[in-house]
Amino acid sequence: MGRFTLENHPIVFDPVQRLENPLSWATHIPFAMLLVDLLRPRVLVELGVHTGNSYFAFCQAVRRLGAPTRCHGVDTWQGDTHAGFYDDAIYQDVAGHNQRFADFSTLHRRPFDQAAPEFGAGQIELLHIDGLHTYEAVAHDYETWAPRVSPTAGVILFHDTQVRERGFGVWRFWREISEGRVAYEFKHGSGLGVLAVGTALPEPFLDLLDQASRSPFLEDFFASRGTELVASHVLARDCRPRPERQARLYVDTGLGYNEKESFAKAITAKTMAFSWDFPEDLPVKHLRFDPADDLCIVRLRRVAVNGQDLPLADCLEPETNFLKQNWDILFFGTLDPQIHVRLPATLEGPIARVAFELEYLLEEEACYHRIVALYDEILRQQACDMRHKDATLAQTTGELDQLKAAFARETAAFEKARQQHLANEIELRTELSRRKYHLPNPKFWKIAQPLRPLKAKLEEFFGGPKRP
Ligand SMILES: C[S@@+](CC[C@H](N)C(=O)[O-])C[C@H]1O[C@@H](n2cnc3c(N)ncnc32)[C@H](O)[C@@H]1O
Repeated sequence: MGRFTLENHPIVFDPVQRLENPLSWATHIPFAMLLVDLLRPRVLVELGVHTGNSYFAFCQAVRRLGAPTRCHGVDTWQGDTHAGFYDDAIYQDVAGHNQRFADFSTLHRRPFDQAAPEFGAGQIELLHIDGLHTYEAVAHDYETWAPRVSPTAGVILFHDTQVRERGFGVWRFWREISEGRVAYEFKHGSGLGVLAVGTALPEPFLDLLDQASRSPFLEDFFASRGTELVASHVLARDCRPRPERQARLYVDTGLGYNEKESFAKAITAKTMAFSWDFPEDLPVKHLRFDPADDLCIVRLRRVAVNGQDLPLADCLEPETNFLKQNWDILFFGTLDPQIHVRLPATLEGPIARVAFELEYLLEEEACYHRIVALYDEILRQQACDMRHKDATLAQTTGELDQLKAAFARETAAFEKARQQHLANEIELRTELSRRKYHLPNPKFWKIAQPLRPLKAKLEEFFGGPKRP
């Protein structure tokens, strides 16, 4: 089998050309570029492009490698309930960037189902499914598009296989679809499932999946390389003049979070008090407060709704995406930090006023360095945990083997005892029957056999056999 080695694929170390919010896919970019190198697909389709982090990573690799790939990105560029709804500026920006790849890349601005008939059966060699993340939506996208994937050279990617909140269901669909198939799931970056569909895929690609499933090295490598790539891009971006930083409150009135129902305020000081008043008839269902549009480390001092202070220890929903929390200090390692507010059950009447008070703990650059160090720390800890789990697994496997051997010995001994018991039982039953029906003892019967005709004669002479 053709072996996979990282040294044959220097593209995994390429810097990324474009990175935009949201960054949830971004740590998979080194793997995306490697896939293009390994598979050299003739047709690549992405369902769900948004700001283009994954799509343009594929395009960047196609350009760099001179691969014979036609790329197609499909999206309504309106958003959905999981990604949030957004305005036309995103599509304009993506379409502008796509000009660089216009010789091989086409954007299809329409619903996935409308774009599907544009692709023939078995035509797509690399399909990336990253639209709405409910179980029903991902199952529908798979069923609609899988027949268009090549039965010999096809690979399908699923993003967000690790997210189990807000009605995400890719994890469940992935568990079902990957069962018993050639597949691997990266756990970092919200999870990326790689499903090998084709029967004649390149051997180094299959070897990569095999190696990844046998050792944590490749998962560790792609997680840390992806994080490094995102962090270095963010650091480089910091050297450019940036517009003023902003905090933003999002209000979900039943349509999910979207830019239209959001309110921004500039961050002008190290300690800031923000407050917003709403009209009485605004049906506020959920609140999300983004403390900055950048990496940040903040101390949360106060969260209040209708003038009532919420207990800080209990006012964050689990969707709050900090990297680490130390009491009231939140470390956000993302350009899209989000505090999801847990509204008190005792709240009376509509939400009319919301207030936050927080302190921004480090200047931008120091903050970037601290966050990068924190990512490193977390990755080291994860690698250490993985090694520990590996060692525990090896030990448990050893113990299990010993138990299996002991069990096999016990089973053999038991079987022998059972056979013996059976033989004893037969002997006993035979003896009982013999006694019951007055049959001669077999040993005695053998010895007495030659005398039997004489015995019969004697019995005949004395008038029949004697019975006790
Ligand atoms: C999770 S985002 C894609 C993220 C992107 N791959 C990245 O790298 O950041 C999902 C996108 O799918 C789009 N979408 C969801 N369902 C769709 C559908 N049925 N048809 C077209 N676009 C859809 C949304 O507009 C949204 O932009």
